[in-house]
Amino acid sequence: MSRLSSFRLYITGGTGTGKTSVAKKLTRILSLEYLELNTVVLEKGFYLGYDINRDSVIIDDDLITAYLEKVIINKQRICLVGGIIPLKNIFDLIIVLRCRPDILRLRLLSRNYPEEKIEANIEAEIMNVVYYEAIEFFSDQKVIEVNNDEYSIDITCDQIVSKVRQHHPSVLE
Ligand SMILES: Nc1ncnc2c1ncn2[C@@H]1O[C@H](COP(=O)(O)OP(=O)(O)OP(=O)(O)O)[C@@H](O)[C@H]1O
Ligand SMILES: [Mg+2]
Repeated sequence: MSRLSSFRLYITGGTGTGKTSVAKKLTRILSLEYLELNTVVLEKGFYLGYDINRDSVIIDDDLITAYLEKVIINKQRICLVGGIIPLKNIFDLIIVLRCRPDILRLRLLSRNYPEEKIEANIEAEIMNVVYYEAIEFFSDQKVIEVNNDEYSIDITCDQIVSKVRQHHPSVLE
């Protein structure tokens, strides 16, 4: 582990695109520490309130970014997992997971989300909102979209590993 070079990865994407499932497996393959954004927000109380219309917490961007920038810069091999937030340029690679709208709908339906929330998330996915925000916050050369819809989580992880190999060969020795 100590021989491996430093690597900071951000796995992001819209709601239900598979961030948690993919990152849990990927962090084992790449020997990266796993850090879930929502867990930090809830544990540290970095939220401003609750958005009833969106059925989600309103994250305090200032508090979470200040905290994460400090934590992440002090870690050699880490993977941040969660929605897109305006962090400084501290990542080597940002993966935006994408999911076909019809498949995403099935995933969100199985969570029993209200119809409005499902529609809002599908619309955001169609418009590729997370990717466009990501290239606003980070260099677009570091931001890569990877589909995680009809293929298995293993295949998505393989695709990400090959992107890592291509862009950062020393990360995998
Ligand atoms: N490649 C895949 N093939 C089939 N099902 C998948 C795939 N990836 C994820 N899923 C399923 O989709 C659902 C959503 O996945 P997951 O919870 O990992 O998404 P998420 O992006 O972390 O969601 P959230 O934005 O709510 O944190 C889960 O039921 C998961 O098992
Ligand atoms: Mg998740």
